Amino acid sequence: MSDDLTLLVLEGDGIGPEITAAALDVLRAAEEVFGLPITLTSAKVGWAALEAEGSTFPESVGEAALAADGVILGPISHNDYPPKEEGGLNPSGEMRKRLDLYANIRPARTRAGLPSPTGKTFDLVIARENTEGFYADRTMFLGNGEFMPTPDLALAVRKITREGSRRIVQAAFDLAKNRRKKVTAVHKGNVLRVSDGLFLEEARKVASANPEIEYEEQIVDAAAALLVRAPERYDVLVTTNMFGDILSDEASELSGSLGLAASINAGDAHAMAQAQHGSAPDIAGQDKANPASLIGSVAMLLSWLGERRDVAALREAGMAMERELDELLAVPDTRTPDLGGPLGTAAFGAALAARLRGRRR
Ligand code: IPM
Ligand code: MG
Repeated sequence: MSDDLTLLVLEGDGIGPEITAAALDVLRAAEEVFGLPITLTSAKVGWAALEAEGSTFPESVGEAALAADGVILGPISHNDYPPKEEGGLNPSGEMRKRLDLYANIRPARTRAGLPSPTGKTFDLVIARENTEGFYADRTMFLGNGEFMPTPDLALAVRKITREGSRRIVQAAFDLAKNRRKKVTAVHKGNVLRVSDGLFLEEARKVASANPEIEYEEQIVDAAAALLVRAPERYDVLVTTNMFGDILSDEASELSGSLGLAASINAGDAHAMAQAQHGSAPDIAGQDKANPASLIGSVAMLLSWLGERRDVAALREAGMAMERELDELLAVPDTRTPDLGGPLGTAAFGAALAARLRGRRR
């Protein structure tokens, strides 16, 4: 491959450093096997950045992310950060806004040897809108989406735009074209008639322009129930920010564990690999954490870069990482303790890296 790829690595808080180290171990193996000239740069976010620079998300990190070809973000403990005025910014939210990462793509599928709690077998993807909705830190140009007219009254604003709706639905249809060709738009239009009405208007326009893809609509509470009862009916679900946040964790748990949930935050120009789970400070530094979610997210990032740059080696590396990850997860002896296995975080990454090197082309 001709030009270098620069990936910015932000290890995050809690278990972030150790699962990031495991993911980078795997990435280096993929780099060797598939000849990917990747340059890694790193920066501090979260607690380490707050201590070193007085902000959990220094301006320099946003600039470095814009300049990089991709970002790898470990989990963050943003719920425990100080207020914004004391440097407590949410690195995840800041990245999504500043890089316009409007499509949070969250696959959830059952794997051989790892049964779903419900015994069901399924393979779905949730395309979650990432830059608007009920998220108070991204609904206003100036100010915040939550406010209190009186000490006893809190109000929150939901932001839904035509363009925001169109582009996430288009991303969902683009995904479905390479899958089982079905898109389910999830909404609460029977209550949020205006805002979800706008979302559905745009979804229907995209559906009309893509008649080869089956399109349906489902109210979010029914979707939450059907994910338990009949998840096999879903191929690609597309929905707004908050509903996607909630349904994707449910779908991941139903697939076997939230610890397996890979995710990519993608826009038209940038993408960020991000584990779907949190920073689990209670098990930090004990070599217990399951790095599968971040490893799977890095695999998604390589595939995304491969698609956009039309570089087969990147696509193949991403697919190989996913395949070897499935192989390790299929056998109890090569899992981490959360899934009943003996491997520590570092050993899991090393085992996956060894499998990749063993496939050397
Ligand atoms: C996620 C997380 C974030 C979100 C939190 C950390 C702000 O739950 O990425 O799913 O709600 O988007
Ligand atoms: Mg979430």
